[in-house]
Amino acid sequence: MTLQEGGAGVRHVSFNAGNRGGWQLSEMRAVTGPGLAPFARLEAFAAEAAPGAVWSLSGVSSHKRYTTRGEAAMMDARPAPLGRAGARAAALIPIRKSPAWWSLAQDDRRAIFQESSGHISIGMDYVPRVARFLIHCRDGGGPFDFLTWFEYDPADTPAFDAMLARLRATEEWLYVDREVDLRLVRAEA
Ligand code: HEM
Repeated sequence: MTLQEGGAGVRHVSFNAGNRGGWQLSEMRAVTGPGLAPFARLEAFAAEAAPGAVWSLSGVSSHKRYTTRGEAAMMDARPAPLGRAGARAAALIPIRKSPAWWSLAQDDRRAIFQESSGHISIGMDYVPRVARFLIHCRDGGGPFDFLTWFEYDPADTPAFDAMLARLRATEEWLYVDREVDLRLVRAEA
């Protein structure tokens, strides 16, 4: 199955931290709440959790919850696939949202996500330079609700950081109660 967000097929994926995998850790920062144990290499989008890993985070690709038809069309018109040759930098940002967020109704969450915070509008300022992939893990009972993955040319790191600063200043982020920011570079061998 090709790596595709949403759609008909649910795909289970794991991110395994340890000594193997195609990505090398360059920086890790606990933004909100506790961090994660350090490691050398990350195996991204693995089929399953690796026994003996320093840690594994797993989840599923899933359908869209908040995106309108118009927003989906805008995003489809500007594709940014994973695995591009120049995209040698990546970020894995696991996120958990607070009980206050999850107690809101769907329409209230959408209103905070886009009408108030402009999540999609901010994000699309950086697409296609930044490729994104969203993994859901709330229903699996792990430590995070989402695993967010991004790939970009290392030259676009300042733009990626600027996007993060804009998103973290939004109302939506008031509901983020755990966030870890991991930066990676493609391992040479
Ligand atoms: C590259 C630019 C970005 C674009 C175009 C983008 C777009 C989107 C869209 C369309 C959704 C909603 C999916 C749905 O309908 O369910 C979404 C959800 C999400 N995004 Fe982004 N995003 C971007 C960057 C980021 C960044 C940098 C982060 C983390 C630091 C992030 C974290 C999340 C999270 C956690 C969700 C799930 C929210 C929830 O369901 O409560 N996004 N994003």
